[in-house]
Amino acid sequence: MPQETGASCDAILKTQVAIVGAGPAGLLLGHLLRAEGIDCVVIERQTPQHVQSRIRAGVLERITVSLMERLGLDARLKAEGLIEEGFNFGDGERTIRIDVAGLTGKTVVVYGQTEITRDLMDAAPARGLQVIYGVENVALHDIAGDAPSVAFDKDGAAHRIEARFVVGCDGFHGPCRKAIPASAVREYERVYPFGWLGILADVPPCNHELVYANAPQGFALASMRSRTRSRYYIDVPLTEQLEDWPDDRLWDELALRLGPQLAQTMVRGPALEKSIAPLRSYVFEPMRYGSLLLCGDAAHIVPPTGAKGLNLAASDVHYAATALTGFFKHNDADAVGSYSAKALARVWKCERFSWSLTKLLHRFPEDGPFERAMQVAELDYIAGSTAAQTSIAENFVGLPV
Ligand code: APR
Ligand code: PHB
Repeated sequence: MPQETGASCDAILKTQVAIVGAGPAGLLLGHLLRAEGIDCVVIERQTPQHVQSRIRAGVLERITVSLMERLGLDARLKAEGLIEEGFNFGDGERTIRIDVAGLTGKTVVVYGQTEITRDLMDAAPARGLQVIYGVENVALHDIAGDAPSVAFDKDGAAHRIEARFVVGCDGFHGPCRKAIPASAVREYERVYPFGWLGILADVPPCNHELVYANAPQGFALASMRSRTRSRYYIDVPLTEQLEDWPDDRLWDELALRLGPQLAQTMVRGPALEKSIAPLRSYVFEPMRYGSLLLCGDAAHIVPPTGAKGLNLAASDVHYAATALTGFFKHNDADAVGSYSAKALARVWKCERFSWSLTKLLHRFPEDGPFERAMQVAELDYIAGSTAAQTSIAENFVGLPV
């Protein structure tokens, strides 16, 4: 366990790995390190209640499931997760099924990412994973060398963690990425001209598998959390306000975009949650600088088309945990040295898939008849080609780690 020592005004915590951010990436990494007997401390800006209240996507790839299995934290996931063998594209009229299980021999699991976070949070005390919530003014120091530290305030007192490594799992808006000198980095970004308006409701899903639709009125996604809880999305211009979308208007729009067949099976109900999230593709290189490693949304963002966000965070965490285990347990300094290149190779492939699905399924304001014809041709090609379907299926189910 980390050791706390008193020092004039500061409380200094010494540990091997300081993790900033207790979202799914930070918690998963913390558990994996503790399972290897590596000391770590996680610090989080928000309260546990706030972290648990964030509604996120709900499709888990093999890598995410297998990390939960390896930790022995998969009991609820196994009991409540829905195994999905395929998913569908629609255009308001026809449906193209991608037989993920038949084409790849693998499946995904529908289980809310919020539930993964809850499982990881609940297990932390028993596994000796220290998570300090409600920290403020987090600042990284000396990350270029081999004795970095993380300063923060909590309840009005100043604290410092001295570690061998710091891992930034602090999401897109956190301070870790910004601590790397601009001269050492490169950023790639695509901001999309629309957001996803999502609704969560306690109604049975309209279909037992996900349906992504590119209809004349725009994009729609029919997803679920369980056999009794549905999650739907449509795309809206970024200028749109939540107040403009009372539940009835949103259900009407979903019925139009999903098409007459799904509209018949779609059950309407009051929104448990409704929000608009902008879409962005973003990659930050490198994912390591000196003693600082970045994992998850701290280093990259994908648009939600394809549900790669958490799964990509999980593969980063897998590479980071392997590298840090190599360093601390097998004296292998090169393991950390190759972290960024290994993680980025997979990140870019997932960025490509999320971007290409986004392009295929949304009507962009700048698109003319040619771009629309390209979408129709691509959907036709996918409908008639096992090779195209296999490519989509292997990306959807998760590329090898
Ligand atoms: N100090 C401490 N913690 C911070 C700070 C800070 N200054 N800034 C942000 N954080 C915390 C956030 O409060 C949040 O709990 O870092 C955490 C980051 O978590 P996520 O944003 O969920 O990012 P990540 O863990 O990388 O999740 C990856 O999983 O659920 C999905 O949509 C999510 O795509 C994302 C993916
Ligand atoms: C979800 O269920 O919230 C979900 C599913 C698939 C996506 C995005 C979100 O691509």
